[in-house]
This record gives sequence, structure tokens and C-alpha cells, in this order.
Amino acid sequence: MSSDLIPTLQQMPKAELHLHIEGSLEPEMIFELARRNGVKLAYSSIEQLRAAYAFTDLQSFLDVYYAGASVLLKEQDFFDMTWAYLLRAKADNVIHVEIFFDPQTHTERGVGMRTVINGLSAALEKGRAELGISSGLIMCFLRHLSEEDALATLVLAMPFRDKLIGVGLDSGEQGNPPEKFARVFAQARALGLHVVAHAGEEGPPAFIRTALDVLEVERIDHGVRCVEDEALVQRLAREKMPLTVCPLSNIKLRVFDKMEQHNLVQLLDAGIKATVNSDDPAYFGGYVNDNFVAAANALPLTRRHAYQLACNSFEAAFLPEAIKAEYIDRLDTFFRTPLTTVPEIG
Ligand code: ADE
Ligand code: ZN
Repeated sequence: MSSDLIPTLQQMPKAELHLHIEGSLEPEMIFELARRNGVKLAYSSIEQLRAAYAFTDLQSFLDVYYAGASVLLKEQDFFDMTWAYLLRAKADNVIHVEIFFDPQTHTERGVGMRTVINGLSAALEKGRAELGISSGLIMCFLRHLSEEDALATLVLAMPFRDKLIGVGLDSGEQGNPPEKFARVFAQARALGLHVVAHAGEEGPPAFIRTALDVLEVERIDHGVRCVEDEALVQRLAREKMPLTVCPLSNIKLRVFDKMEQHNLVQLLDAGIKATVNSDDPAYFGGYVNDNFVAAANALPLTRRHAYQLACNSFEAAFLPEAIKAEYIDRLDTFFRTPLTTVPEIG
């Protein structure tokens, strides 16, 4: 590996397109919000909570993740969580972010849609003004719940339509294929919302196909299991379909046994528009730059791949073409300029 690769990955401007904001709740903040709101947690200390982060699969993670999100009650809580994430994103040279949130996790506890969306949006607005990070909100439906529940959630969100850029689909894939949500995705598309879905994380390549064909998604979240179907790999490349890949998540949730086996480079070399993202950074061992570094330390990632990943993140973003071009210009300038290294002391 060239000695410049890691600082290049860290310093290059990038977009993050797969980030569950509830998955950015660090244990310290979970305990602080629990105290502030008088919520009783099943864990007696931060250490005990962290010890529960030994996941064996997606569901074992989701159980802990939904428990962690139960401390979020007030608009200020949603604001604080999002602001903390934006400060971390800024440190990683993220200049654009599209944030997932799971409203059903909150509305089913009696927290209003207004409380959730206003708290998240206020922090994103401050991030635009003070950190120069552009952003959008993507509302995810929980696929383990019914489509009726998802349709009701879309109705609840309608007063805040202007605050959303799209809808997504997350939670446990097994037994919950994309086609279960055909009607609600058709409605979202008719409203002019962008559409994405988690597929091919734990679920089979067939779920990627139905996400494309039935839900008509514009990006696939994860999608790493596409490599089990060569014709699908070729289709994804031909259609320039972005995959929002999350390397540390895939290791933590045992999609791959170790990072050396991750297929990120294989996907890029097959011509797929892959991007690197953090998914649930507080639970999976790091933010977006940690994901780039972990991948570079284990895989034959080159400077060309680094450029491609950052360029893909802007091309795959739900942004006007002029802004994408401006961000890619910034990226090109970065790659043309010698790296600034922090001087060594002593
Ligand atoms: N919700 C939060 N993180 C998720 C993931 N990696 N897969 C599915 N649902 C999620
Ligand atoms: Zn995810």
C-alpha cells in the first residue's frame, strides 16, 4: 500500500449515504439521555451496554439498537444525537450526508412524528449553516412490520413532506422481501420521493432483483450478496446502480468472517458503483473514515479506488447535477494537490 493512501482516504471530501442516525447513538449519550428522560435501561452501566455489542447476526444487533433508541423522547434528543453525528462527519471530511431514520421505532412509543422530524431537521439546518455539510433525510420503513403500518407512517409524515428527500426499507431482511412493500413504495414514488432499500445484506440476491424491479429503487443499501449471481453483477454495473456498502457493519454482523474476505474491491473492479459508509457507527466500531481505513488495511485498495469511491458517493447522491459537479470538482482539486501532512513533533 502506498504510504499516502490512508491520509488520502481520510482527507478526501466524501458523501455518506448509508447512516442510520439512531445507530450513531454512542453508549455515553444513551446513558445521558436515559438519565435526562427518566428512562430505565436494561443495562446497568456503559460497560455492560458495550459488552452487549457482540453480535452474531443482523437480528442480534437490531434487538440492542431498538433498545438504545428507546431513550429518545424529545425534539432536543433528536437534535443532540444528529448534531453529535455531524461533528464526527465533519472531522471525517464528509461534505454531504443523507441520513436514515426509523420513525416507527419512535411513534410506536408515543413520540410524535413532528418531534422526530423537527429535531433531526433543526440539527441538519445548523450543520448546513455552521459546518458547510449539505444533507437530506430518508425515512425508513421497518420491514418486520406490516405494509399497512408503513402506509400509515407515510400518511403521518405527509405534513413534513418538504423535509424528506426519500424513503428507505430497513430492519430484518429474512422473511421480509421487498415486494411486501410494493404499494407503499409506489405511493412514495408518486409523491416525488427518492426510493432506496436494504437488500442483499443477509437476504439473497433475489431480494436485490425485486428491490430493483418491484420497488424501482435508485440505490441498493448493502447489496454485497449480489456476487452470488453473475448476471445480477453485470446488470448492476450496466445500470450504474449505486450500492451503499458498509464494511465494518458487514464484519460485525458476520456477513463476512473477516475484512480480508470483503468484496468491496471485487465490486469496484466489476464496474459497480460502490460507495463506503458507516451504517451504525456507534455499534460497529467506527465512523466513515474508520470504514475506509479498515478496508484499505485488509484489501488491495489503490488510490484509483479511493478516487472512485468518493466520486461514486457524489454521483449516487440525491443532489442537483450542478451541486454534484461542484463536489466532484472539489474532489478533483483534492486529488491534484499534494497532501498536507501534520508536522511531526520533536
Ligand atoms: N437498521 C439499522 N441498521 C441496519 C442494517 N444494517 N440492516 C438493516 N436494518 C438496519
Ligand atoms: Zn443499514
